[in-house]
Amino acid sequence: MNCYELHANEGLNAVVLTSRSQPALDRPGLVRVQIHSVSLNYRDLLVARGAKAAAQGKPIVPLSDGAGVVIEVGSDCSRFKVGDRVMAAFFPSWQEGEFKPEHHTSALGGGSTDGLLAEEVVLPESAWVKIPDHLSFDEASCLPCAGLTAYHALFQVASLQPGQTVLLQGTGGVSSMALQLAKAAGAVAIVTTSSDEKGKRAQAMGASHIVNYKRNANWGKSIYELVGAGVDLAVDVGGPETFDQTAQALRTGGAMSVVGVLTGFAGTVNTSAILAKMLTIRGVYVGSVNMFEKFNRLLSVHRIAPIIDRVFAFDQARDAYAYLASAAHFGKVVIQVRAPSI
Ligand SMILES: NC(=O)c1ccc[n+]([C@@H]2O[C@H](COP(=O)([O-])OP(=O)(O)OC[C@H]3O[C@@H](n4cnc5c(N)ncnc54)[C@H](OP(=O)(O)O)[C@@H]3O)[C@@H](O)[C@H]2O)c1
Repeated sequence: MNCYELHANEGLNAVVLTSRSQPALDRPGLVRVQIHSVSLNYRDLLVARGAKAAAQGKPIVPLSDGAGVVIEVGSDCSRFKVGDRVMAAFFPSWQEGEFKPEHHTSALGGGSTDGLLAEEVVLPESAWVKIPDHLSFDEASCLPCAGLTAYHALFQVASLQPGQTVLLQGTGGVSSMALQLAKAAGAVAIVTTSSDEKGKRAQAMGASHIVNYKRNANWGKSIYELVGAGVDLAVDVGGPETFDQTAQALRTGGAMSVVGVLTGFAGTVNTSAILAKMLTIRGVYVGSVNMFEKFNRLLSVHRIAPIIDRVFAFDQARDAYAYLASAAHFGKVVIQVRAPSI
């Protein structure tokens, strides 16, 4: 079968088209899926760019997020049959309950664990989740990481309520889904972006206010004042360089879901702002299979489909990575592993 692997090359040259023998169903409980679509996350850029430094042992197949059709079911499987439409869970081993350190190694498409950028993928039955009926394969491929993270950040570590105000940053995969979910929950969404054009699009999707974070370095204070006395909840995807501004935008007693690393992994934080406002700061790491299923029910009830910016063909995978890296996208970037039949 055809697949991509991450090799020990510089930058995005690490993403290499190759072939492997078909993965075997060599023990009970495994399910083979023909992959139709995969989507890219910012994490996939980090994994690809770090492939040279991380290279040890055999190269892995990249990408955590994909959707397809069950084509073979091993013994001891009861949840799926041939023909079912499924998505992979980001952390196959995190089925429910609290996150445990050992779940890290099960994350697909990172470390030493093969991901989804392949024509066929074999995983335990418990790693697959049924696709909501209203979604295409392209749309479903956007849910396992970015989509579920947005749900987790708004409704699991926090509990966004109708009428509350939420701050979302940028217009990428996580934030565009968070905007759709916030609107469905009856919340007021404020979106920061570097692009007035993207701001108009976010407004058309229901964002109440748009703030350009490139033009306005004190966007946290501006947002605090804009809503009277700060927002109830903020989903921080920026990391060290946005953290203090995000804290500034929050009301006293507000909450921050810490999600992203767009400006790096460590930095200086104004801890006094956290204590003076008695903020709740919660880290978010994608989500469990159980959360994924609850998220899918919410999507079905509101018939929400993730926003796809652009779809690339399988042989253009490296172009898709480069497009994501350019940050020109609004929403998600998808690669069709198998072109849809007409
Ligand atoms: N913790 C988790 O479980 C988890 C899960 C998914 C993603 N993440 C992280 O969340 C972040 C976003 O991921 P993604 O996949 O949604 O990325 P993405 O689709 O590439 O979106 C990135 C967007 O964020 C905006 N942005 C860039 N720099 C910014 C900054 N300094 N301040 C505010 N906004 C900025 C830009 O939007 P504009 O063009 O509109 O300015 C950019 O297009 C990444 O750091 C990713 O690693 C974490």
